[in-house]
Amino acid sequence: MKRPVFAANWKMNLGPTDARAFIAAFTARWSPRSDRTIIFFPPAVSLDAVAHAIGSRRDLDTGVQNIWTEDRGAFTGETSAPMAKDARAKYALVGHSERRHVFGETEEQTAKKCATAARSGLVPILCVGELLSEREAGDTNDVVLRQLRAGLSDVSPEVVAAMAIAYEPVWAIGTGRNATPEDAAAVHVEIRRALSERLGKEANDVPILYGGSVNSSNAPALMAAEGVDGLLVGGASLDVDGWTRICET
Ligand code: PGA
Repeated sequence: MKRPVFAANWKMNLGPTDARAFIAAFTARWSPRSDRTIIFFPPAVSLDAVAHAIGSRRDLDTGVQNIWTEDRGAFTGETSAPMAKDARAKYALVGHSERRHVFGETEEQTAKKCATAARSGLVPILCVGELLSEREAGDTNDVVLRQLRAGLSDVSPEVVAAMAIAYEPVWAIGTGRNATPEDAAAVHVEIRRALSERLGKEANDVPILYGGSVNSSNAPALMAAEGVDGLLVGGASLDVDGWTRICET
């Protein structure tokens, strides 16, 4: 994964028609460049449309926002990793805070999802982050590192070395209140340290993204923070101009 990494998490926005229009508008503005990774995470129902709209542009990739832990079967409403792969997803978000806190996803499930994604040839991006109450109690590092270790517990060091981590403080997501570059750097350093326990020097190759109320104004300072290798962007990734400016950071 080339750095910096800019990942657009569209959440439950942009069905196939709007997703196609977005990619058309973005590719009209954005000339291919090989010095960064740009990934779109559309809703699963729009994956195929985004892959088609990207066409032969090798500088742009897609990923799935969530997968289920099993490959097939009686799991109404879910999407499996092999299905997402078939729809040309290359990446899978795992353990996004909305999955954990809105849908009750457990750490055991995030571990299984990382393993399932990797087994199917998807690159997992494991999301971790603390609640405001946990930050205020001084538990940020404990929570983040617990989620990190749990999420990576079923995958080999080789898989960890090829994936990415996203630090997204829950209190910063969709609130307009981003972490300061200093706050982000402090947590990114801890994540890198924990990764190096598993990987040694190879931990430096794992991109660690920051997410939570990123926009084109705060992106440069966040990207300049120590240990920040990319951005995972929700709301601001839905505006073509703003998203283009973020990708230029
Ligand atoms: P936000 O979302 O940029 O809208 O805060 C980020 C995310 O949830 O990945």
